[in-house]
Amino acid sequence: MTAFNTIDELLAWARQVLDQAAIESATQESRWLVGHALGLESHHLASQAGRSVAPDKRIQAESLVSRRAAREPLQYILGTQEFCGLDFFVGPAVLIPRPETEILLREALRAVDLNKNSVLVDVGTGSGCLAVTLATILSRTRVLAVDSSTDALAAAKANAERQTVADRIEFLEGDLLSPLRDRGLMGQVDVIVSNPPYIAEPDWMGLQPEVRDFEPRSALVSGPKGTEFHERLLRESKEYLMLGGSLVMEIGQRQRPAVQEMAEQLGGYTPIEIAKDGADIERIVIFRRLN
Ligand SMILES: C[S@@+](CC[C@H](N)C(=O)[O-])C[C@H]1O[C@@H](n2cnc3c(N)ncnc32)[C@H](O)[C@@H]1O
Repeated sequence: MTAFNTIDELLAWARQVLDQAAIESATQESRWLVGHALGLESHHLASQAGRSVAPDKRIQAESLVSRRAAREPLQYILGTQEFCGLDFFVGPAVLIPRPETEILLREALRAVDLNKNSVLVDVGTGSGCLAVTLATILSRTRVLAVDSSTDALAAAKANAERQTVADRIEFLEGDLLSPLRDRGLMGQVDVIVSNPPYIAEPDWMGLQPEVRDFEPRSALVSGPKGTEFHERLLRESKEYLMLGGSLVMEIGQRQRPAVQEMAEQLGGYTPIEIAKDGADIERIVIFRRLN
């Protein structure tokens, strides 16, 4: 039986458990987890520090803290992640949106012509963070969101409903661009945006436990090289992009030369354009269809 009765004692216990599990931001995370269990904003915990905790709430807080100590990502425990200022539901079926993907969103937005009714496809939509955010901004754009995972598409739809854009997005299940085949979209797409799986198989075991043991492997691992999805997207996008249409993809660290070489060998695209992330890493590649 744990020896604590008040919020303050519960917080101290949570911090100690997370510290022992080598969680870097143990103090902050213990506040978020305890606050979540008690239904209090974390900044209200201090003002109510001496209040006693009901047994059911204490058991709930203990369960959340134990999950985090077992390295489950905080976002899955709290069920949410912020992306571009919007809150997204996240769970084990979807990748937790990453801050660098906001640069992908920015580059996709740049590629859209705001003066016409464009068509944009988000390939590997996951939580829907890109498709949903884009739909909230681009009122004249037809947005299609593809994923091979039924559960990811359900999460993306829930997020579209949460942001009230569900009626503006077509959710399609299938392999990369194959669901577009029967929709009369050949040569009609203005922008294809994708954050595809790009971890090379040999790198999988070296990932931090939060990623390796909890996030869906199918959202992360591409194949032996890590660039297999980029190669397929470069090859398959030409059929669907209109002339001048853009393929905008996120890449992993040091993948730019391989992706650039593939595009050059394949032909039919303008020279590569690159956007770097905040750590000066080449993160986004942009190609436009030439012929
Ligand atoms: C890296 S996650 C990106 C999720 C989200 N777009 C984001 O940026 O956070 C890659 C997504 O691609 C999906 N995926 C994997 N293989 C696929 C395939 N062959 N066709 C379509 N989607 C695929 C996964 O289910 C996953 O949701």
